[in-house]
Amino acid sequence: MEIEVRHKSGDPLALKSDALLTFLFDDQKLVGTLARADERLDGWVSELVKAGEITGKRGNLTVLHARGVAFKRLFIVGLGKRESFELDFMRNEAATAARKAREIGCKRVSADVPHELVDGDASSEARSLTEGIVLANYKFTKYLSGHKERYLELLTVISATKGGNGKIENAVRQGDLLAHATQVARDMCNEPSNVMTPAEVVRVATGIARRNKLPLKVLKLKDMQRLGMGMLMGVAKGSAHEPFVVVMEHRGDPKSKEWIALVGKGITFDSGGISIKPSSGMHHMKRDMTGAAIVVTLMDYFAKAGVRANVVSVAPTCENMPGGNAYKPGDILRSMSGKYVEITNTDAEGRLILGDAMTYVQRQYKPSVMIDVATLTGGALMALGAGLIPAFSNDDELYAQLEKAGKTSGEPVYRLPLYPIYKKGIRSYFADVKNSSFSAPATIKGALFLDEFVEKPTKWAHLDIAAVFAVDKDQGIFSRGGTAVGMRVLAHLVHLMEKK
Ligand code: BES
Ligand code: MN
Ligand code: ZN
Repeated sequence: MEIEVRHKSGDPLALKSDALLTFLFDDQKLVGTLARADERLDGWVSELVKAGEITGKRGNLTVLHARGVAFKRLFIVGLGKRESFELDFMRNEAATAARKAREIGCKRVSADVPHELVDGDASSEARSLTEGIVLANYKFTKYLSGHKERYLELLTVISATKGGNGKIENAVRQGDLLAHATQVARDMCNEPSNVMTPAEVVRVATGIARRNKLPLKVLKLKDMQRLGMGMLMGVAKGSAHEPFVVVMEHRGDPKSKEWIALVGKGITFDSGGISIKPSSGMHHMKRDMTGAAIVVTLMDYFAKAGVRANVVSVAPTCENMPGGNAYKPGDILRSMSGKYVEITNTDAEGRLILGDAMTYVQRQYKPSVMIDVATLTGGALMALGAGLIPAFSNDDELYAQLEKAGKTSGEPVYRLPLYPIYKKGIRSYFADVKNSSFSAPATIKGALFLDEFVEKPTKWAHLDIAAVFAVDKDQGIFSRGGTAVGMRVLAHLVHLMEKK
C-alpha cells in the first residue's frame, strides 16, 4: 500500500504507465490530453462517445486497452455536470478509478492534471485526485495470513502545461502527505484494542514526534494526579491499562505566539464501563480512539508539509472498562478545572477525558483556537446521518472557516446549536454538572458538556465524528473499517489559518 507519488510536467501520452487516468464532463467535449489521446488512438474515444458508451456522467468509467502507445490503458473518468462540479467528485471518482486499476493489476499509473477542463490553475483538482488515488490504495490486511492484495506502486501526476507548475507540484505533495498520514490514522483505528492500547497510541505518537523532531510530552498517571485531572483518571480506573495524555507541538510560525489546539478523544476501547453497552456492535468501540489517531497523525502531516502555523495536539487516551476499581454511576469527580461532575452514566466517558484535556491545553498554551474531534455520541447518526459531521462553535468566524474547509476537503460539516436551554439537561442536584441525561438530543448535550470546560477567550469548535468514523464496505476513498473522517477537514482548516 506504500505508493510513491511524483509530479511531472510533460506530455502525459509519452509517459510509460499501466494506466493513464483522464477526466471528462458530461458535455462530452474532448479537450486537452483526452483530445490528443483520441487522435493517437485513431478516434476510438470519440467513436465510443458517439455510441453512447462514454458519457462523462459521474460514475461512468471507461477502460480502453491501448497498444503501440506508452500507456497500456486509457481510463476515462466521468465527472458529471460541469456546472455542479465539486472537488470531492474529482477525489472520489479518481479513487474509484484507482480501485479499478488495482483490481486489474496495474502498478504504475499516471493521472492527467485537467488544466483545460477547469477554471483556475487546477492545483486544487491535482491535490484532490492525488488524495483520492492514494486513499483508494488502502486496505487493512495485517491479520490476514497469506493474503495477497493488489496495490498501486507508483502514481505520476502529470501536467501537460510547460511552466508554472510549482503550485501544482506543491498541491500534489500536500495531497500525498495528507493521504499517507490518513492511512496511518486508519491503521491505528483498525488495530484491535488488545494491540492499540493507550501505551501503543503513545508509541505511535513518539515515532511521529521523533521522525519529525517535534517536541513531545507524555503525561502519566502521576502527572495527572499532580494536575488534578480527576475526570480522566476516573474513566481510566476500571482498566488494567495506564492512561496517558500525548501532547505534541508543531511550531510552523515561530514568530507568532498564537496556537491552534487540536484535542482528540482517545478511548482505545469503550465497553461503556459499569453502564455497560450491549454486546452486539461493541467491537466497533475499538475505534473510539479515532479522534486521537486524527490529531496525532495530523502532526505528521503539518510537519512534513511545513504548514506555517503553530499547532499543539492533545490526545488523552485510556480504556473505559468495568473493572473492580471502575468509576460508578453516582460518583462525583473533581475535574482539572475545579468543577465537580456527577457521573450518571459511565458510558458518557469521552466528554470527561476531553474536558480535562481541554483545560490542560488552555492553561498551558492559551490557544486562540481550540478544536476537539471525538466519536462522542451515537446520536450524531440520528441527527445528520453519515454524510455530514455535526459541528459546534462558540465563534461564527471560526465556524465559517470550518464550513469552508468542510467543502474543499470533502468532509462537510453542519452546524448544530449550543442551545442554552438544553443546559438544564446537564445540571446536577449534587454537583456542578452531570455527565449525561437520558433524553435527546445527545449530540447537543455532549457539546454543551464540553462547553463547560471552554475558558474565555478561547474560540472553540467541536466535531462529533461518531456517525462517520467507520464504513462497512469499500467505496471511493473509503475502505471497510476506519475512515479517519474529520482529519481532512481539520487539515484544510489549518491551511486556511496559515500565515500567508
Ligand atoms: N463512544 C460512544 C459513542 C459512539 C457510539 C461512537 C456509536 C461511535 C458509535 C460514547 O462514548 C457513548 O457511549 N456515548 C453515549 C452517550 C450517552 C451515554 C449520553 C451514547 O451515544 O449513547
Ligand atoms: Mn461511551
Ligand atoms: Zn466513547
